[in-house]
Parts: sequence; C-alpha cells; structure tokens
Amino acid sequence: MDHRITIFGVSLLVAFLVCSEAPFVKMTNFFCESYNKSWVLIHYCRLKAYSRNKTSLHINATFIEPANNIFVHMKLMKKASGYKPFLVDYNFDACEFMRRRNQPVAKIIWNLIKDVSTVNHTCPYVGLQMVSDFHRIEVPVSLPTGEYLLLIDWIFDGKPQFATNVYFTFVEDLFPKRPPHG
Ligand SMILES: *[C@@H]1O[C@H](CO)[C@@H](O)[C@H](O)[C@H]1NC(C)=O
Ligand SMILES: *[C@@H]1O[C@H](CO)[C@@H](O)[C@H](O)[C@H]1NC(C)=O
Ligand SMILES: *[C@@H]1O[C@H](CO)[C@@H](O)[C@H](O)[C@H]1NC(C)=O
Ligand SMILES: *[C@@H]1O[C@H](CO)[C@@H](O)[C@H](O)[C@H]1NC(C)=O
Repeated sequence: MDHRITIFGVSLLVAFLVCSEAPFVKMTNFFCESYNKSWVLIHYCRLKAYSRNKTSLHINATFIEPANNIFVHMKLMKKASGYKPFLVDYNFDACEFMRRRNQPVAKIIWNLIKDVSTVNHTCPYVGLQMVSDFHRIEVPVSLPTGEYLLLIDWIFDGKPQFATNVYFTFVEDLFPKRPPHG
C-alpha cells in the first residue's frame, strides 16, 4: 500500500475530527403506546437502521377525535444501573407552544422534527399524524456521554392518551470546543 496515500488519509481523518464539533447521537430504540384506542391509533412506530451508527425514526398515527387541549410531559432518563431521572422533567402546553414557541427544551425537539413531520400547525390536531424518516440530529446542547431514554407522554383533556419513548446514545464532542470569538 502506498505510504503517502495512507498518510494523506490519516491527515484527512484527523482534520475532520478536529473540525467536527458535533457530538454523536444515535437513536437505539423507539416505543409507542396508545392508552386510549378510541382516540389515538398508532399504525406504525419504528426505527430503521441506515448504518451501524445511524437510524431513522418513523411514526404514523391517527387521532380519531380532534385534540384541542394537549399537554406534553417530557422526562429524560440516564442509564446508571437502571434508568434514573436526569435534568429534564416537565409539562408544557403544546397548543400554546405551537402558537408562541415559548419552551426552550420543546423548541429543541421542534426544530429537529418540524421539517419531517405533520406537526407544523396550531391546534386542533385530528386525523393522520406523522414523523417520517427523522434522522438529522443536530442539538445545540451537550450531555454527558451515556445511554438515555426520553419519555414523552401526550395528555389530551388532562388524561394521558399515548406515549412515545426514544432511547439514544450520546457521545460528547471528541475535542473541546474552540473558545468563543471576540
Ligand atoms: C378516550 O377517548 C375518547 C374518545 O375521544 C374520550 O371521549 C375519552 O374521554 C377518552 N378516555 C380517557 C380516559 O381519556
Ligand atoms: C399510515 O398507516 C396506515 C395504517 O397502516 C396506512 O394505511 C397509511 O397508508 C399510512 N400512511 C402513511 C402516509 O404512511
Ligand atoms: C460511523 O460508522 C462508520 C462506519 O461503520 C464508522 O467508520 C464511523 O467511525 C462511525 N462514526 C462514529 C462517530 O461512531
Ligand atoms: C410551517 O413551516 C414553514 C417552514 O418552516 C414556516 O414558514 C411556517 O410558518 C410554518 N407554519 C406554522 C403554522 O408553523
């Protein structure tokens, strides 16, 4: 094998790693469950594998009745001999969020899925709801490296109607970020 090509390849790889500031995130499992099949029918809920370290998330569900009053309960868990609550555990009014985009944590998730989902409108929500081929994960926050579980309960009229739970692996930046300019 040509030595120079090898060195060139290694330099490119190093340059890539040094320039790359993105942490590594991979969704590893996804579960959905309807608590009330006369309101929410889940047809499809799946992670597909693109490659060893990339998956894409799909969900296809029908809201049989219009949902006008939607609260979301998000709870982040981190694995440490079983999953333990970690940092995020809160409820917000999803209808108000869609009008005002006023929840920072919800906004991170919204920014991730807005272009690959049918969620881009205000309440009510009725009929087919989808997230298809969600795989571009770019988050403006960092987490300690580890295994996580994001539990999301969807509450209509004050009662939990369905859950969407995503397991993911987070690996912190391999190299520290450059100091901010200025
Ligand atoms: C289940 O869904 C039906 C139909 O929308 C609704 O009338 C009922 O209140 C829901 N039950 C619960 C426990 O949320
Ligand atoms: C959603 O799932 C239903 C039931 O499996 C299916 O009939 C429908 O074609 C799906 N819709 C889309 C857009 O994938
Ligand atoms: C992603 O997978 C490719 C091929 O399997 C591998 O070369 C690469 O190092 C992986 N990237 C990370 C960040 O694990
Ligand atoms: C839907 O998305 C488009 C493109 O991002 C945006 O311009 C539009 O305002 C969004 N609509 C709503 C109701 O959020």
